[in-house]
Amino acid sequence: MAVTGATGFIGLRLCLHLRRQGFPVRALTRSPSRATPLQAAGIETVTGDLAAPAALARLVEGARAVIHCAGAVRGRTRKDFDGANVTGLARLLDALTAEPAPRLLALSSLAARAPHLSHYAASKQAGERLLLEHGGKISWTLLRPPAVYGPGDRELLPLFRIMRHGLGPVPGQLSDRVALLYVDDLTAAITAWLRAPSAPRGIFSLCDPREQGYTWTDILSTAATVFGRPVRPLRIPAMALRGVAALNWAGATVIGYTPMLTPGKVRELRHTDWVCGWRELGGAIDWQPRVALAEGLALTLGGDVAPPCRPGGEA
Ligand SMILES: NC(=O)c1ccc[n+]([C@@H]2O[C@H](COP(=O)([O-])OP(=O)(O)OC[C@H]3O[C@@H](n4cnc5c(N)ncnc54)[C@H](OP(=O)(O)O)[C@@H]3O)[C@@H](O)[C@H]2O)c1
Repeated sequence: MAVTGATGFIGLRLCLHLRRQGFPVRALTRSPSRATPLQAAGIETVTGDLAAPAALARLVEGARAVIHCAGAVRGRTRKDFDGANVTGLARLLDALTAEPAPRLLALSSLAARAPHLSHYAASKQAGERLLLEHGGKISWTLLRPPAVYGPGDRELLPLFRIMRHGLGPVPGQLSDRVALLYVDDLTAAITAWLRAPSAPRGIFSLCDPREQGYTWTDILSTAATVFGRPVRPLRIPAMALRGVAALNWAGATVIGYTPMLTPGKVRELRHTDWVCGWRELGGAIDWQPRVALAEGLALTLGGDVAPPCRPGGEA
């Protein structure tokens, strides 16, 4: 298997899971220093990025499947996102010249269905279009995960940590709904895709077992149960979020760092329709999500909290 984005939150978790399952894995890494945990797990690494045709050719040589987890999730301009999310995917497609070509699974995002919100969302939709228009002879599947969380995540973990101290920042209305996905359910879906007799062509959403998503009230009350203390909602006014994002964006322009909270991210955070299902994908690859938020929170934050039992008592 060839994996891009292997040093990222999802890609690293996936590579280690695939190795434990006995799959041979070859991974693309930009920095040799970040390759150490992969190499320690017996994973072959190829140094290079999505703009390096020779590295991509080596990555996919002889591979039965390619899993494209590399992507830009932070940035200031559309160009910052397109480099990895559109052009990078195009370069990867160029590298798939073998006959027959390996099957390809690419991680898009639920954000792709609302491209007007942010450069990130627009770049993810553009990546999807690229595959729809130029996927040609390749056997490919696009996955649209919602917010993914779990050990190693940098985006939701800070929020969960604040909740553990009894405060729940809420960027929109308490009644807004979001779908969530625990990272190991995503890696299990990718493993099921690898084991499926063929790659179902199309764009598939997936989420955790709770298909109606979570309101912020649900999230805070689940956190309160898991942490064993009340978690009070702290509504962040839109003006305040936008102000911080504008400052952050301006700072990033002047100093040249890669910001997370941008005006586009604020629009994503305040969007009211982030709910999706998983059954179409589940039917196509024989997979179903297992970890709902209460268990996922306990697994993410580790020893401090006791994991709740799943219905049916499964560990
Ligand atoms: N996390 C979520 O909640 C979520 C939700 C929906 C969809 N997704 C999608 O899932 C994918 C992985 O997300 P993540 O959370 O794991 O992100 P992440 O932790 O930021 O990891 C991104 C990975 O992509 C690599 N990368 C970025 N630009 C690259 C380039 N030009 N060439 C080669 N590698 C490059 C990074 O390498 P370095 O380590 O060298 O920077 C890193 O390995 C992304 O496509 C993202 O859009 C994520």
